[in-house]
Amino acid sequence: MNADDGVRLLLVGATGLVGRHVLAQALADPRVAAVTAPARRELPPHPKLQSPRVDFDRLPEDAEWWRADAAVCTLGTTIRAAGSQDAFRRVDHDYPLAVARLAHAGGTRTFALNSAMGADAGSRIFYNRVKGELERDLAAVGFDSLTFVRPGLIGGDRDEVRPGERAAGIVLGALGPLLPRRWRINPAPRIAAALLAAALDAAPGVHVVGSERLL
Ligand SMILES: NC(=O)c1ccc[n+]([C@@H]2O[C@H](COP(=O)([O-])OP(=O)(O)OC[C@H]3O[C@@H](n4cnc5c(N)ncnc54)[C@H](OP(=O)(O)O)[C@@H]3O)[C@@H](O)[C@H]2O)c1
Repeated sequence: MNADDGVRLLLVGATGLVGRHVLAQALADPRVAAVTAPARRELPPHPKLQSPRVDFDRLPEDAEWWRADAAVCTLGTTIRAAGSQDAFRRVDHDYPLAVARLAHAGGTRTFALNSAMGADAGSRIFYNRVKGELERDLAAVGFDSLTFVRPGLIGGDRDEVRPGERAAGIVLGALGPLLPRRWRINPAPRIAAALLAAALDAAPGVHVVGSERLL
């Protein structure tokens, strides 16, 4: 933490389900002095918020907001929305890694990623492999504090219709406490709180927060 005037937080993915909650919690947190949330869409104004419009294919290398204390990433898409595996990989791997490298080069020492249960660079499942490759590549960037928050199914209201996730949500929601803790639905505000805590605590080393801790 910047002892004098609070933490300067960089947040990418602030318009998404989890990112919206990270943003609201960070803006309400007295330990956070300022939030910069680069996005391709407009965010509601707030005195602590700066939200530059960006194209993640052409991120500005010299922006002053790369000089944050901590960064949180909740970027992501679906293969369906992206249109292809390559396009999915660009959003779920290449963009977060580009943000991490620019933030690290700007002096940011702490990074927290919204990853996923099953993230594994050696997985035969494409989605899990991309998430695992991102975790692996982020670990090589050199942050003092790096946290991977790995939810299972995320619970919350989305604008976008995702039939598979909705069906899974109904089944997992009905089974509720009968399920082992790691398979239960992870509410978006709970995931957001874990990401923000990791960003503010800045505990040295690499940390994993599993789905059983996101209930
Ligand atoms: N869905 C699940 O149950 C689940 C489970 C485990 C892990 N996860 C992972 O958790 C993370 C957060 O999930 P979420 O549900 O909060 O995501 P979400 O609601 O879909 O939000 C994704 C964010 O990424 C941004 N984004 C997507 N495509 C982009 C592009 N081409 N260029 C720039 N920005 C782009 C969105 O911006 P716009 O608003 O501009 O689109 C939004 O801010 C994701 O990485 C996801 O893979 C999801």
